[in-house]
Amino acid sequence: MAYKLIDLTRDGGVATIQLDRPKALNALNTEMMGEVANALATLEADDSVGCVVLTGSEKAFAAGADIKEMSDNNYLSIYKNDTFEENHCAIERFRKPIIAAVAGYALGGGCEIAMMCDFIIAADNAKFGQPEINLGVMPGIGGTQRLMRAVGKAKAMDMCLTGRMMPAEEAERAGLVSRIVKLDDLMSTAKEAAAKIASQSQPVAMITKETVNAGFNMTLEQGIRFERRLFQSLFTTQDQKEGMAAFIEKRKPHFKNK
Ligand code: CAA
Repeated sequence: MAYKLIDLTRDGGVATIQLDRPKALNALNTEMMGEVANALATLEADDSVGCVVLTGSEKAFAAGADIKEMSDNNYLSIYKNDTFEENHCAIERFRKPIIAAVAGYALGGGCEIAMMCDFIIAADNAKFGQPEINLGVMPGIGGTQRLMRAVGKAKAMDMCLTGRMMPAEEAERAGLVSRIVKLDDLMSTAKEAAAKIASQSQPVAMITKETVNAGFNMTLEQGIRFERRLFQSLFTTQDQKEGMAAFIEKRKPHFKNK
């Protein structure tokens, strides 16, 4: 598929999806999210890809769902034509690790799709926000739920009810982003992290991701049992034998994804 609103590139085991609708500050319309979902399906099926970076421009990761596309809806039209499951949820369903590299505005749906990724690396100019209340609506693709789990109730309520933007430093302090880097270093840092992940055993990275995410829907006890069983199951893999042998023999491991 030829993409119009995203740019898909590959470098070794790392694929980068760049949102590319600069005139609208990468506002997420149906076509763009359809392209993201299509790209992710392609990358899921491509065994040579071990990690994905999702990014935008230096000014905007994404300034939210496309307000102009959305504005004329009524309840039935937005319900019947809903592409949330098909498009946006493709990010949360994606089974390989995916990093959001965020510069500039990550607002509304932009903040929400960044939070669907496994972790966020932010440039020092990043600004996060759920400003939907200013438009007479509220977050609609997971913002109230994921922000609350990421930064706790006080900050999530503050963000969703006032609609204010949270600068990168505050986002890091609050636990929304894993690290902040200078704007110029954003892509090299994100790609370096992605390359490190892609160099690991792919099934082990995928199972690790699945296990961390499973914890959101389990009690601590269930989560620990789930982790233990999967940890035990990894001893059936060649990559476990290779990883531990490499440590003992003081050499680098060569994982075969088996
Ligand atoms: N939807 C559609 N178009 C958008 C947009 C959006 N979310 N955000 C920006 N744009 C467009 C603007 O309309 C403008 O286009 P025109 O030149 O054709 O008028 C262009 O992008 C540049 O924007 P600005 O001139 O406003 O740029 P700025 O630098 O002055 O301000 C901004 C930047 C503060 C991000 C401002 O654009 C803004 O507030 N954008 C809207 C942010 C927002 O409310 N996001 C939430 C959307 S709703 C949502 O996401 C719901 C959900 O959870 C599913």
